Amino acid sequence: MTDTRFHLGWFTYFGQNAWNDPLGSAPEPWTGDLHRDLARSMERACFDYMLIEDTLSIPTAFKHGMETYLKHGIMVPKHDPVPLAAILGADTRHLGIVTTLSTMAYPPFMLARLISTMDHLTRGRFGWNIVTSAENAAALNMGLAEIPPRQLRYDMADEYVALVEKLIESWEPDAVIRDAATDTYADASKVHPVNFEGRWYSAPGPLNTVRCPQGRPAFIQAGGSPRGRRFAAEHADSVIASTNGIAGMKAYRDDIRKLAGEAGRNPDDIKVLSLIAPIVAETRSQAQEMYARALESPGYTERALALFSSFTDVDFSQYDLDQPLPPLTTNAEQGALDKFCQTRPGSPASPKTLRQLVRDSGTTGALELVGTPDDVADMMGDAMAQVGGDGFLITTPFHRLSRVYVNGITDGLVPALQRRGLTRTAYTKTTLRETLKEF
Ligand SMILES: Cc1cc2nc3c(=O)[nH]c(=O)nc-3n(C[C@H](O)[C@H](O)[C@H](O)COP(=O)(O)O)c2cc1C
Repeated sequence: MTDTRFHLGWFTYFGQNAWNDPLGSAPEPWTGDLHRDLARSMERACFDYMLIEDTLSIPTAFKHGMETYLKHGIMVPKHDPVPLAAILGADTRHLGIVTTLSTMAYPPFMLARLISTMDHLTRGRFGWNIVTSAENAAALNMGLAEIPPRQLRYDMADEYVALVEKLIESWEPDAVIRDAATDTYADASKVHPVNFEGRWYSAPGPLNTVRCPQGRPAFIQAGGSPRGRRFAAEHADSVIASTNGIAGMKAYRDDIRKLAGEAGRNPDDIKVLSLIAPIVAETRSQAQEMYARALESPGYTERALALFSSFTDVDFSQYDLDQPLPPLTTNAEQGALDKFCQTRPGSPASPKTLRQLVRDSGTTGALELVGTPDDVADMMGDAMAQVGGDGFLITTPFHRLSRVYVNGITDGLVPALQRRGLTRTAYTKTTLRETLKEF
């Protein structure tokens, strides 16, 4: 019998909670307590992983300044996810813990050492969300004169990942022998220099950390442009995608699988998860009312425009809300621009007005999933059957993180999925990569 189950990931950030939402506004000290509660809920619901995103600047793309971002708390504050991930790893036993680390921010040696250490601390459940960073403000904060063009960013990232992999593998799995009789801790013949000399990066190695439980931590990636997708297909164990509709989800997954095959990989080794932000409530009309209320809330349009400006470095404040957008391209996140503008690479601009695009961007997910847990579980099951796999990456709609929302998913929606045999009811594996490969 074929296994029709799909995977679940959670996409979140170490930032502000739903501070202006009556059901999520508890003051949060920056201790990680909110995320510790969320991780426990996700583990109860048998999620594959919780991914904590990260960026390296307060955006300035909208209206040429930080003001809108600080005013609404959009993409700011953002605390460092790695120390948080260490706490979450200690609190959990099965959930994968993934953090975002930019190839622009760390020397490869330091990143290899950090993710190897994290894989030990999480007992083999760590994942690296590989990003190149796309915002010019982030490049300036890293001491660069400007963000390199996308092609160069990914060419550099290819070399960066190659060096990281070599460093991670520089200790053979059985290098530590701890033989008291011969007073030998490690077998020096099993720890190898890497002598890597690339165009942009070099390190003689070896790493000074013991080989990690997964051999190498799981790699997660979210390339959206054709170049970014090729990078994702070559390196990732799980690819996360922000697309539009069932057709967009299917086209993206088919493309990643094709590119993986061309790179000599088994496409089944890559789990493509599509971003969704369901709105669930006890009754369908309650859920629809919650959705309508959020779309009509004061500031919704400005928040949505500022958010997409931050991903794309396009200042949407310059365009008339009641006119269609001109054709746009970006050196920042092309995938986010295509999603928001409802275009595909190379396709003409959408005839919809900017106001319509804002409204359509809705919860920011690929599908409009609004209803009771049973309604939404049915819609998710139907979508997965049409797409062919591999699962969903759930996030909070409108960037409003709260315990109430997360528990509505983990204790309402997920049981409805489990009753349909669509998601796992227990973990059977130890490491994140094994969990991803379970079905
Ligand atoms: C679900 C999802 C999560 C992402 N998380 C981050 C992140 O945490 N930090 C970041 O700098 N970029 C993040 N990105 C951006 C991607 O790394 C990538 O730049 C983007 O999808 C556009 O693709 P492109 O680089 O091929 O144009 C994310 C993208 C998606 C779709």
